[in-house]
Amino acid sequence: MDSIIKLLLGLVFARSTFGEKEDASLQTPPFPSFAVSLAEDSFWENFQSYKSDEDLFKKWHISRIGLKDKSTGEARPMYPAKWTLQEPYYLKSFKGDQCLSPATSNAPAMIGRVLPHPLDIVEGTKLVVQYEVQLQNKIQCGGAFLKLLPKVNETELIRYSGGNPLLELIFGPDKCLPYTDEVHLGLKKTDPITGQSEMKMLTGAPPSKLEGDRTVRLYTLVIDATTQDYEIRIDGQVAKAGNLLDEGSFQPSFHAPKQVPDLEAEKPDEWDEREIIPDPDAEKPEYWDESEPAMIPNDEESKPASWDETMPEYIPDPSSKEPEWWNTAEDGEWVAPLIRNPDCFKIAGCGPWSPHMIENPDYWGPWTPPSIENPNYMGKWEPPLIDNPNYFENLKPAQLENSIGGVVFEFWSGSKDLLIDNLYIGLHLEEAESLGNQTFIPKKKFQEEQIEADIIDQRGHIDHPKRPPTMEGENTVNNLFDQLTDYVDVLLQKFAEQSSIVQNIVGGSLIVLILGATSFFFLKLVMFQQDHSKGLGITNEGEKGLEEKEKDGLSEPKLEGSEGEPQLEIVETQVETDVTVEVDMEPLDPASTEEATGISLDSDTLNKRG
Ligand SMILES: *[C@@H]1O[C@H](CO)[C@@H](O)[C@H](O)[C@H]1NC(C)=O
Ligand SMILES: *[C@@H]1O[C@H](CO)[C@@H](O)[C@H](O)[C@H]1NC(C)=O
Repeated sequence: MDSIIKLLLGLVFARSTFGEKEDASLQTPPFPSFAVSLAEDSFWENFQSYKSDEDLFKKWHISRIGLKDKSTGEARPMYPAKWTLQEPYYLKSFKGDQCLSPATSNAPAMIGRVLPHPLDIVEGTKLVVQYEVQLQNKIQCGGAFLKLLPKVNETELIRYSGGNPLLELIFGPDKCLPYTDEVHLGLKKTDPITGQSEMKMLTGAPPSKLEGDRTVRLYTLVIDATTQDYEIRIDGQVAKAGNLLDEGSFQPSFHAPKQVPDLEAEKPDEWDEREIIPDPDAEKPEYWDESEPAMIPNDEESKPASWDETMPEYIPDPSSKEPEWWNTAEDGEWVAPLIRNPDCFKIAGCGPWSPHMIENPDYWGPWTPPSIENPNYMGKWEPPLIDNPNYFENLKPAQLENSIGGVVFEFWSGSKDLLIDNLYIGLHLEEAESLGNQTFIPKKKFQEEQIEADIIDQRGHIDHPKRPPTMEGENTVNNLFDQLTDYVDVLLQKFAEQSSIVQNIVGGSLIVLILGATSFFFLKLVMFQQDHSKGLGITNEGEKGLEEKEKDGLSEPKLEGSEGEPQLEIVETQVETDVTVEVDMEPLDPASTEEATGISLDSDTLNKRG
């Protein structure tokens, strides 16, 4: 277990890129040759050992689960995004530096693999997760976060649909403006009494940093299973640190509440909840005459002289005749319809005369006593708190419930040719730091040089050279530019905390947001099955949604349809209703790139049931 293996990397795997057109002023550095000592159970993936995508898909698998629309019978892959090996092109890296990249943007993306050595995150260990993300294009809405799974096999990855029980931890950046922009951290915990599992999400998570100069970013998570301390680093600098047990830092809390309202308690009959009552001492004043009607006839009017009360107001229509089909025996005597008597229009009027009604100046209306504050008001009744019969506490939330046996990247792919590289999952922070020092730091430095060279080319000078990144959390004073961007981050984060997101596959049911006006839509975290899923779902009831969001620590969109914004329709597709999740039961042929990438999925394959 503790045996150390020496890995010699770099030149061995580096693919020659001679012949590529290169910047005259900046030489692309060769792939670094370095020696890293990794513990046997550490997992490190730099994507250099794969000769082709086909090779990649022997280890990394894309889910082949399909979604079938019952009404149309159409099926489509649940994760349609393609994946590929790619070298950075926007800001270059070392020669032949291969990265993992979702090649399809604006689509649900998933790829995962089995870890060769499952990790037990127990007392005395530290979980360390680290990887690089590099943007090559702008990002409005998209993720780059990963999920750690319990022990899985390849078949389970190929059938992965995001639901229970395939999730232990979520970590990584996610940005979907204006709803969210943060580095998620979530731990799955199972309620020991109800057996229900749910994700506990970090509140006040740091901003995603998916923005700006598009140089490579390094995300690091450290969780100490002994002290319960956690740390999120971005580019080697601590972005958020704390203890998992800090009050309110995770939502929902790791513990059950000590006391809960007694749901059996009933409001006592004598409990007076009326804040305002009619004044019981008030009496109707003597002058108040309730007998006067609201309207009275106007006695100043008199009958006009030409008004003829004897003349009928209505007469049978003389132009109307009994129809031929009328059967007197069955239908009775035919009667002509009545019309207004035309003779009445020649005089002031006819028929019985009465004056117009006017408002009664003496009208008082019914008397009601004035309202006063209720002197016996006892406040709103609330059920008394009792000790929670389901109380439990979890003082070691850093210890994961299952061994970590797999990793998946599963998110809404929102930025074309996003790059993922140098993934480390292990128990040793020094290893992650050492890898970062030898891969991330030189890559970042070279990319910043490219930006500076570009600025010099354009303007002949540099105003504010960028500070080179450091792995260790140095106490460096930020320059003004950094302070400003940090300030914008804080604003964005505040905004994200208040409004919020998004999507979900809650307990195997897929929630798809369809934006009526455009085809743009969001998909965010795939969450764990849980009873509290009502709190995780998407709401369009503004205020309520906000409360729910705060309760769960997950951001959700406020979907009010305001002008200028696309109208959202939420379609919750569940197994019984519109869409079935069907598994392709055909055994996987890993040699087939098409199948392994899920690209060739067609309705026939999906409709076939094993
Ligand atoms: C993979 O895991 C599933 C569920 O645990 C099991 O049913 C299946 O037999 C396993 N497949 C292989 C090839 O081990
Ligand atoms: C990483 O680099 C920093 C700065 O040079 C150094 O202080 C630190 O010891 C290095 N860490 C490892 C684990 O190599």
